[in-house]
Amino acid sequence: MRIPDWPISTERELELLREVLASGRWGGHGDFVKQFEREFAAFAHCAHGISAMNGTVTLEMALCAAGVGPGDEVIVPAISFVSTAMAVSRVGATPVFVDIEPLSFNMDPERAAAAIAPRTKAIMPVHFGGAIADMDRLAPLAATHGLALIEDAAHAHGSEWAGRRAGSLALAGSFSFQNSKVMTAGEGGMLTTNDAAFAERAWAIMDQGRQPGGGWFHHYIVGSNYRMTALQAAVLLAQLERLPEQIRRRARNATLLRRELADVPGLAFQAVPRQQNANSWYLMLGRVDARRMGRTRDEFHRALTAQGVPCTPFYPHPLYGNPLYQHGGCRVEPCPVAEACIGDAFWLPHRALLGDEETTHEIAGAILKACSEVFAI
Ligand SMILES: Cc1ncc(COP(=O)(O)O)c(C=O)c1O
Repeated sequence: MRIPDWPISTERELELLREVLASGRWGGHGDFVKQFEREFAAFAHCAHGISAMNGTVTLEMALCAAGVGPGDEVIVPAISFVSTAMAVSRVGATPVFVDIEPLSFNMDPERAAAAIAPRTKAIMPVHFGGAIADMDRLAPLAATHGLALIEDAAHAHGSEWAGRRAGSLALAGSFSFQNSKVMTAGEGGMLTTNDAAFAERAWAIMDQGRQPGGGWFHHYIVGSNYRMTALQAAVLLAQLERLPEQIRRRARNATLLRRELADVPGLAFQAVPRQQNANSWYLMLGRVDARRMGRTRDEFHRALTAQGVPCTPFYPHPLYGNPLYQHGGCRVEPCPVAEACIGDAFWLPHRALLGDEETTHEIAGAILKACSEVFAI
């Protein structure tokens, strides 16, 4: 099976890296970082982009710039990578874990509404796997209660909701450029926003409390050094040039794959809401109906990987199952759907959707074979 490796780089990355090396400005204050911030912000339909060294600190920057701190609560989904909750804990606030919807894998707006309490300061949905959380319900919910709404868009570069890009659907959007993401420099992060005052605060937090255009030795608020380097920015500029074509290719292959597997009993793919008109396809998510099929997701996963298809058997626990949150430091709402997904969900990485049509047919065939072996269909 000719499934491409990831990450992918070409002569273009080398060309831009050579330019950075020759410039002598390898750090975060050069033109490359500014150019990447401008280009990525425009890509995300935003006026401002604030880059940083990874997508965990961009979440921390967003929370700080939104005024979230000790004593506050932030509502997050129980299913995500740990950064979503870790960033809340790092700024001294308390993550409140709420359930996800059964097939979107995203925060359930009803569960979020039920979790709002006097100390709630923000809601931070994740666009899981590239599928946008239900912003039609989350945005009014946040507005009604005067809460900051922050998108954890680490998976959703280029995803769109009713024609609006991830990162522009709330007060701010936070992106990751870590090695597995759909564009990468190994590490990296970006905060996008259309709020100029928020952008200025976030920038100051990222750059030692300085003010944009202010003096090098003048510091106004507590910040840190979270700067992205010019070397990262050079690689990311090249990656961004390639992203739209890669998204088109993944979309074509995802449609093909889902069409070929639409009638397989006991196998359900992530729901794509009608408002979602573009998808990064960071992950191809699904659930096996283990009860109906009488076998486990783990057997399905083994059968699939044995045929050379990369597949991950979901997370080992909801976020609150981490030792970090076993003895407090969080509030946990009932999460039956998240608990069920731990046992029956799986994902294919985006590189599985980057091959040609023939490879996609082969992957569909491998999934069918795994289903027929394991579930005897
Ligand atoms: C949902 C989510 N949020 C945030 C992050 C944090 O990004 P980073 O690894 O760049 O710190 C990641 C992944 O890595 C993620 O999957």
